[in-house]
Amino acid sequence: MTSAEAPLILRAARREPTSTTPVWLMRQAGRYLPEYRAMRERHSFLELCRTPEAAAEVTLQPVRRFALDAAILFADILLIVEPLDVGLEFAKGEGPVIHRPVRSEADVARLKPVDVESSVGSVFETVRLVRRALPPAVALIGFAGAPFTVASYIVEGGASRDYLHTKRLMYEAPGAWHRLMEVLADATATYLNGQIDAGAQMVQLFDSWVGALSPDDYRAYVLPHTRSVIRAVRPGTPVIHFGTGTATLLPLMREAGGDVIGLDWRIDLDRGWAAVGHDVGVQGNLDPAALLATPATMRERVRAILARAGGRPGHIFNLGHGVHQSTPIDHVQALVDMVHELSVR
Ligand code: CP3
Repeated sequence: MTSAEAPLILRAARREPTSTTPVWLMRQAGRYLPEYRAMRERHSFLELCRTPEAAAEVTLQPVRRFALDAAILFADILLIVEPLDVGLEFAKGEGPVIHRPVRSEADVARLKPVDVESSVGSVFETVRLVRRALPPAVALIGFAGAPFTVASYIVEGGASRDYLHTKRLMYEAPGAWHRLMEVLADATATYLNGQIDAGAQMVQLFDSWVGALSPDDYRAYVLPHTRSVIRAVRPGTPVIHFGTGTATLLPLMREAGGDVIGLDWRIDLDRGWAAVGHDVGVQGNLDPAALLATPATMRERVRAILARAGGRPGHIFNLGHGVHQSTPIDHVQALVDMVHELSVR
């Protein structure tokens, strides 16, 4: 495929000029869509993730409804931890729960090695099915959790506010912490490359909760591992590196790597772009809560973000984090159309 025929979003990731700003939405597949809820009546969340035909269907649902420039693989960042035998469950209404959290040196030493093909091989089949079904102009984005965010679930046992168990392990048993991060980084690199071999054209690394760390801790405990994942990704496939609460971490995230850095809404897009450098692209950064406002308000917000991007090549429009469950579908539709309409060059 020549550069001019490549999907808009891949050209934006390479910072080539595009006719409009490409758009996709984090968590664009999910509970705000009735067709997703219908699938969830028939399958548990993990079943949906692990059944290629079902996961492919869920991946395609938002692309059928909205004029998105990319589909994001339907899976979860925690699938990769199942073979570690930590007791992963998605409890009803609670989100992920890890029944045997890893909190000590001995716990880390007991972890089973991750055989990526046997544990997440079904995801590669989902990628093949989706790529075959997608129109050529719509790119397929694969993804994985970044080592810190995945480690935080394994250590905390689920979601957390303060990350006290995680930080204690980091500070008190740095050897065990780095070992855990290496196990995750190795598995994650193999997992992303498996998705790329199966047809993912771009990958996103989600470090959703890394904003809990100070810059010094990020540098010492996270950066080397995230960098090892990103360096291992097959050359030529753009990597989006995303986190939230990262205003003070952006230069270090950029140092860790990525062709595109994902920005949340807590920083103005132009300031975030300046912080990571204009030689990488940026993705963002509408507050997902803005989707609950009227389309007229949304329009002002979209205009403001596009103005801050200033028509510079390398901007991918997205939310600063995932679509909320209570989001009206017609607002999502309006948002996607607005971005294309207001960004015509
Ligand atoms: O369209 C997409 O964006 C793809 C789907 C996707 C899911 N999880 C599906 C999902 C992606 C990219 C993820 C990644 C993921 N999973 C992240 C990083 C992205 C982010 O939002 O920061 C994280 C932190 C997780 C872990 C996770 N999975 C949590 C915290 C939850 C509970 C969320 C909630 O709202 O209850 C999940 C479950 C989950 N992952 C759902 C979906 C659609 C809801 C599950 C359901 O149907 O009940």
